[in-house]
Amino acid sequence: MTQLDDVKSRLDIVELVGGYVQLQRAGSSFKANCPFHQERTPSFFVFPDRQSWRCFGACAEGGDAFSFLMKADRVDFREALVRLGARVGITVTDQAETGGRSRVLFEINDAARQFFQRVLAEPEAAFVREYLRGRGLNERSLQTFEFGYSPARDNRLLAHLTNAGYDAETVAEAGLARQTDDGRFYDLFRGRLMIPIRDWSARVAGFGSRALDDNATPKYLNTPRTPVFDKSRILYAMHVAKEPVRQHGAVIVEGYMDAVMAHQHGFDNVVASMGTALTEHQVALVRRLTHRVTMALDGDPAGRNATLRSLESSWGVFQQRDQRSAGQPGASVLQQPEALDLRVAELPAGKDPDDYIRQSPHEWIAFVEAAAPLFDYLLAALTERVDVTTADGRSWAAQAMLRFVAYIPDPIKRDFYLDTLSAHFKVDVTTLRAAMPTAVQTGRTGRRTERAASTADEATLLPMRDEKRSEEWLLAMLLQHIEQLGSDAIFTVQPEWFSRSENREIYQSVMTSVDPHLPDDPQVAAELGSHLDELRDRDLMLSTQAKIDQAWQDVCLNIETEYLNLEIEQLTRAMSDEDGLTHDPNVESRLRACTQRRREIDLLRQPASPHHK
Ligand code: UTP
Ligand code: MN
Repeated sequence: MTQLDDVKSRLDIVELVGGYVQLQRAGSSFKANCPFHQERTPSFFVFPDRQSWRCFGACAEGGDAFSFLMKADRVDFREALVRLGARVGITVTDQAETGGRSRVLFEINDAARQFFQRVLAEPEAAFVREYLRGRGLNERSLQTFEFGYSPARDNRLLAHLTNAGYDAETVAEAGLARQTDDGRFYDLFRGRLMIPIRDWSARVAGFGSRALDDNATPKYLNTPRTPVFDKSRILYAMHVAKEPVRQHGAVIVEGYMDAVMAHQHGFDNVVASMGTALTEHQVALVRRLTHRVTMALDGDPAGRNATLRSLESSWGVFQQRDQRSAGQPGASVLQQPEALDLRVAELPAGKDPDDYIRQSPHEWIAFVEAAAPLFDYLLAALTERVDVTTADGRSWAAQAMLRFVAYIPDPIKRDFYLDTLSAHFKVDVTTLRAAMPTAVQTGRTGRRTERAASTADEATLLPMRDEKRSEEWLLAMLLQHIEQLGSDAIFTVQPEWFSRSENREIYQSVMTSVDPHLPDDPQVAAELGSHLDELRDRDLMLSTQAKIDQAWQDVCLNIETEYLNLEIEQLTRAMSDEDGLTHDPNVESRLRACTQRRREIDLLRQPASPHHK
């Protein structure tokens, strides 16, 4: 038995929750006013036999003892484990034994970070300190963002790191050295301002580096892709911005210097996309903390279209995810999480946030607050760029906007946007609706239905009705077959499908890690290391792509079914409480929606035809 199971088996959720709220008995369960939101009639329930809790009111969340403590005490999984362990008399110890390879790369990066910082203090680097002062950076920013300098000559970093016991191959693997054709290694970064890039878990994953001579190219040279560094999955400055982002929403700028200058002026919810168009992965990171995201675009149009396209697609993906996680399927409006609110603010030509903030911090505030919702921004931008008085121009612009509207899964919202477009382009709504592409909105579910139906025969491949086993199957598949599944696979899974916090934790960690085989969060790795190893090594016997696809469809349906079963059971029990939720319309509609969805899944499981092979 793992430590985790040991802790779980000794815990009593009623006792735990009872320490936070006054619980009243309600049949076989307990209820209370929800500790996580304001309410006058209790909609928060604890189910002792399931060792679970659920709020049927505004927060519409639930889980086990771990997720309760994480939410109540605002701690992470690891800390919850330690605290719950202490409650039941178990001292939780570190089980870190995984991720050896990545750990070395992080270690090397951190050693390099320290080295570069030391070199910046040397006489040789006086001109670099002068440069930084000249750009208006203060001492505190230099410390917070750990600026450094890479020596111009002699491969000093390599010498330093090999001296410290790392071999040159590994230094190269970390992206800090390169090898010549005749086999010699040399420092990749030479004579540059070094900017360490920390990942979500605050580990040094790589570096950005700036040339100090304005004629040198490239201006910025970054760590190449390594097992621990993928620019498209990291947001610069996130490690210091998490809490502010949670509180105030995120502002995303394009450059390192922009982010640093923003923080220096107290705008501590600013992170940087590092020059490339914002990716879905980056939006996913931010989405863990907030639904409010403002993108501050530089006032130069290069790359603007790529950025807009990627914003549009992230927005679309998250519209659909948010809709589904509203408690699939069709939770009541009151229970919906707030949809991703993506806004765009465009700087005046030739300016970037760095200049802007230094010149006038107050105007920066106004600038961010004046950001337009993505839809409005796109509409204005398109209207400005094409001549919508001509038939071609209008048709082109309307088509472009319709592509955006097609992403919206909620028909009411979609109609709202269609009305707006109809008024704007003076085109009849029915014409617009007919012209709207359908592929985008049905692509995912359509594919899924089709494949699931054709693979129902194989459903027995997987264990049914065993939540622990299905959850672990799904995770094992993600860990072992992410390439074959495609990176989209992860988005078809909803975190709340996992009834066990440890599995939800691993899922979330896989979802945001650079190396999907190796969840990112060292704390998760530390506690769940052996659990993870087991999942990674489990023999799934999925030798072909077809089997992998089938198994994936099946396991997703199984988990969703188990989730729905639990949800239906809890809803039914909550509704049987006479003076409580008996006629709560939210609970009723949620129950209907869950039952409906379960029927749909049952249908998907039926073989497509009697003589299906
Ligand atoms: P910018 O060219 O706008 O640079 O690129 P900047 O941040 O304003 O830099 P300064 O003010 O001249 O020092 C924005 C971001 O794009 C990435 C970097 O992350 C940079 O911060 N970039 C840019 C690169 O990765 N490589 C490049 O060659 C240029
Ligand atoms: Mn700049």
